[in-house]
Amino acid sequence: MATRVVSGMQPSGVLHLGNLLGALDNFIRLQADHECFYFIADWHALSTNFEDTSKIRLYVREMLIDWLAAGLDPERSTLFIQSHVPEHAVLYLLLSMITPVPWLERNPTYKEKQENIEGRDLSTYGFLGYPVLQAADILLYKGNCVPVGMDQLPHLELTREITRRFNGLYKAIFPEPQALLTEIPKVPGTDGRKMSKSYNNTINLSDTEAQIRAKLKTMVTDPARVRRTDKGNPDVCPVFALHKSLSSPTVIDQVNRECRTAEIGCIDCKKLSADAIVARLSPIWEKRRKLEQQPKLVDDVIETGTKRASLVARQTMAEIHDAMNI
Ligand code: TRP
Ligand code: SF4
Repeated sequence: MATRVVSGMQPSGVLHLGNLLGALDNFIRLQADHECFYFIADWHALSTNFEDTSKIRLYVREMLIDWLAAGLDPERSTLFIQSHVPEHAVLYLLLSMITPVPWLERNPTYKEKQENIEGRDLSTYGFLGYPVLQAADILLYKGNCVPVGMDQLPHLELTREITRRFNGLYKAIFPEPQALLTEIPKVPGTDGRKMSKSYNNTINLSDTEAQIRAKLKTMVTDPARVRRTDKGNPDVCPVFALHKSLSSPTVIDQVNRECRTAEIGCIDCKKLSADAIVARLSPIWEKRRKLEQQPKLVDDVIETGTKRASLVARQTMAEIHDAMNI
């Protein structure tokens, strides 16, 4: 049987360079030789953002356009929206019956978020049950491989535990899904910390060239290199980290040498980095512009994806109901 890949992304706003080089590029690579199901997890977004839902639809659509513009191919992969396939909720309910609450309470992500996200009420039932919904997302398509970041490993372990419990209690119909951890390049944001929406340091796929050049200008560099004549150390410089992810080997070599001898200054170095980012994003911008003028095409992608996903989801639900005598 072909290896089935399943993964989701929460629609939490526009995608940035870190999402592209981390998750999305990986999704795109996998579609060459796997059967892929990729969905936008709008119900998951509710678990931490249930109070203000005014932007969810917009974010879902923006994310889908980013996906298509970056190279996810609706002919090869099944692209859809979680809430359009209600079977996710049905399986979530059934799995919730067999999932012990202590499994969820000891999930490190749960504890950490409850402690660290301020100003939000995370004492809901839905937030505790988040990994059960994620397990349903994966099992509904009998996913073998789940490309995720390190932060998702505890959730995936829970999915595996729930899978084993289901297979043992009723009938062994599910493969145990494996995490597909790829080497995710560390993409720093403009302040040198990890690029993240919550740090407000992102370079977005939808930024314009002018915005990107302006962001690079204010980007943090090797803090010890104060004057133009000071020698720098690229190994501690976030701009160099961007070069390593996006620039050509020749430019990376050049910067690596000339920064240490103060032959190149930070202004020129940043310009080279901005050039590389613009070169990487230009085709995405072009595709994005086209898609924005073809709303019908985007609607069609969603409709086709929903149909394909629903077909598999219904088939799995029939097997599950059969196994459980429901
Ligand atoms: N929890 C994932 C995240 O925040 C998103 C997600 C939801 C997911 N359902 C999934 C990822 C199923 C992989 C498989 O990134
Ligand atoms: Fe960083 Fe480039 Fe300046 Fe060196 S020259 S410190 S790599 S920005």
